[in-house]
Amino acid sequence: MKHIVVLTGAGISAESGLKTFRDSDGLWEGYNIQDVATPEAWEWNPALVQDFYNMRRKSVLEAKPNSAHCALAQLEEKFKVTIITQNIDDLHERGGSTNVVHLHGIITRSQSSKNPNLTYPINGWELKMGELCELGSQLRAHVVWFGEAVPMIDEAASICTTADLFILVGSSLAVYPAAGLINYVPRNVPKYIIDPKIPYLPSDHFIKIEEKATLGVPLLTNELLNE
Ligand code: APR
Repeated sequence: MKHIVVLTGAGISAESGLKTFRDSDGLWEGYNIQDVATPEAWEWNPALVQDFYNMRRKSVLEAKPNSAHCALAQLEEKFKVTIITQNIDDLHERGGSTNVVHLHGIITRSQSSKNPNLTYPINGWELKMGELCELGSQLRAHVVWFGEAVPMIDEAASICTTADLFILVGSSLAVYPAAGLINYVPRNVPKYIIDPKIPYLPSDHFIKIEEKATLGVPLLTNELLNE
């Protein structure tokens, strides 16, 4: 069975109403990364960081998977599919995908501030100050902050080496090590990119679908399912 590897970024969730980071009204326009998404920010003002992720968790819970998430899940009818996502929402899972690797964590879980391997489900949208892990440390969102290690990167890289077909959806490829994953996909493997504003690509071996995800992804998945 052919193995399709999909790398997704914030763009695939844009039409579900979740802001991207670097588009014109992007998340990083309203916030300073240093204030809300770094270990230093957590040291300096944990309540502000907690609040930032509580707000984002609220919008994730209110959002619904869109036709791009669902179309990728449908690929599982005919192919082995691995979704590697930079997104911390759970829309791929809610869209039906069963094999999702979250490079930057997932906002619906919390983690110990002492031991990142200790993670817990969060019921509802709010993680409160004073909620402690089993070691007694303050619980934080289970997301990878800038300057922190990306524990899943090696697994993600080796998954990319086993792709028979690669699809990149909705990422500006601005953030490493995630952006470097495309270099692990063998040269002879067909590569597609779906994005209304195709970002700079180190190699021109990509088949470009210059469309938004809810248009471009179903177009491609229907083709693959009916070939
Ligand atoms: N459909 C498809 N792609 C879209 C859509 C859409 N409707 N709308 C925007 N895009 C594209 C943009 O053109 C851009 O290429 O999605 C991409 C969004 O890029 P970013 O905002 O940089 O998001 P992403 O690449 O996921 O950022 C990577 O940076 O801030 C960190 O941890 C954060 O995981 C994030 C990482």
